[in-house]
Amino acid sequence: LQMDPVEVDGSVLEGGGQILRVSAALSCITGSSIKITKIRAGRSTPGLRPQHLSGLQLVSDLCSGVLQGATIGSTDISLTPGKIRSGNHTADTQTAGSVCLLLQVALPCALFAESSSQLCLKGGTNAEMAPQIDYTLKVFKPIVEKFGVNFDCDVRMRGFYPKGGGEVRVSVSPVKHLQPVVLTDRGTITKIHGRAFVAGVLPYKLAKDMCAAAVRTIRKEIKELYINIQALQEKDNAYGNGNGIIIIAESSTGCLFAGSALGKKGVYADKVGIEAAEMLLRNIRHNGCVDEFLQDQLIIFMALANGTSRIRTGAVTLHTQTAIHVAEQLTQAKFTITKSEDELSSNGTNGTYIIQCEGAGVSNTHL
Ligand SMILES: *[C@@H]1O[C@H](CO)[C@@H](O)[C@H](O)[C@H]1NC(C)=O
Ligand SMILES: *[C@@H]1O[C@H](CO)[C@@H](O)[C@H](O)[C@H]1NC(C)=O
Ligand SMILES: *[C@@H]1O[C@H](CO)[C@@H](O)[C@H](O)[C@H]1NC(C)=O
Repeated sequence: LQMDPVEVDGSVLEGGGQILRVSAALSCITGSSIKITKIRAGRSTPGLRPQHLSGLQLVSDLCSGVLQGATIGSTDISLTPGKIRSGNHTADTQTAGSVCLLLQVALPCALFAESSSQLCLKGGTNAEMAPQIDYTLKVFKPIVEKFGVNFDCDVRMRGFYPKGGGEVRVSVSPVKHLQPVVLTDRGTITKIHGRAFVAGVLPYKLAKDMCAAAVRTIRKEIKELYINIQALQEKDNAYGNGNGIIIIAESSTGCLFAGSALGKKGVYADKVGIEAAEMLLRNIRHNGCVDEFLQDQLIIFMALANGTSRIRTGAVTLHTQTAIHVAEQLTQAKFTITKSEDELSSNGTNGTYIIQCEGAGVSNTHL
């Protein structure tokens, strides 16, 4: 019995790659065919870019699917999923397209396979417009583990814009179903640490400058904590030139927040350090339990979980609204967002929100 595909408008809300990732992953997991139209319609180069194409191909490979219309520049695709296949899967963006975004789309799928999966993902590990791999490992991973997600990641080679050439190997264990998660108590910030790196021909001094500028910026607001940002020269496991920084804050209740930035031609290292520090500060000024980047990445797990998840956040991002929109379209999950009442908002912060989700309780039929 073939049902009509669910039609997803690729241009709504954030209107970019995220709609593709969330809808393709949910199609794979739920077995519903999807047709995505108006892909990246509002962007300067509409349609699929190479990194989106490799993400869709990876999902299609994971779910033994039939992917139609998927070429560079295409604005309409359809995916008819089959059975989720465990085992080895490779995806190569051929560019500096982010391996972390490939993992975002592949990880939820691999959880619902019959046994473990090994993903070999090639592209940029520390690339623009995406989480750095260090974010994925140090912030995303510990938090998704609370849902019951288990994966290991080996960073074989780091890759940067524009050359790419990075490679990570990820091993994912399947789950019977995901558990709901409650993250509403921020606690106090107890630790700040991070890494500032240079790779290739770039001088080590850049790493030290990013680091020093970041520490100075954080010190203006946070006086009492020891800040441990290491300046690193990537040696053997980095392809091409790159520099960047990620700074992570941990709270007494286990919440994790980050600020990060990458170097660009003509941008002083100090500025890169300051950008990351300001991003971190912005994300810990509110009393939420996740930063603006983790928010939207958790939506798919909340939607799939068996039970009610609640997460306290700062301002709800457009990416988050987009993920919710797609998750509600493709699963039975129901989300509500409420402005939090018990606020310390007198001190000039904007208050927090509670994102609540009655998860669809999707279970792995292969286990
Ligand atoms: C998966 O890949 C690994 C390493 O590339 C290889 O050793 C292994 O034999 C592969 N397994 C299968 C089932 O193809
Ligand atoms: C989901 O949760 C309900 C209520 O806690 C429980 O009865 C049910 O067995 C769970 N489903 C699975 C697949 O574990
Ligand atoms: C509060 O929200 C406004 C508008 O979204 C923003 O410009 C401002 O920086 C926020 N203030 C704080 C303290 O986060």
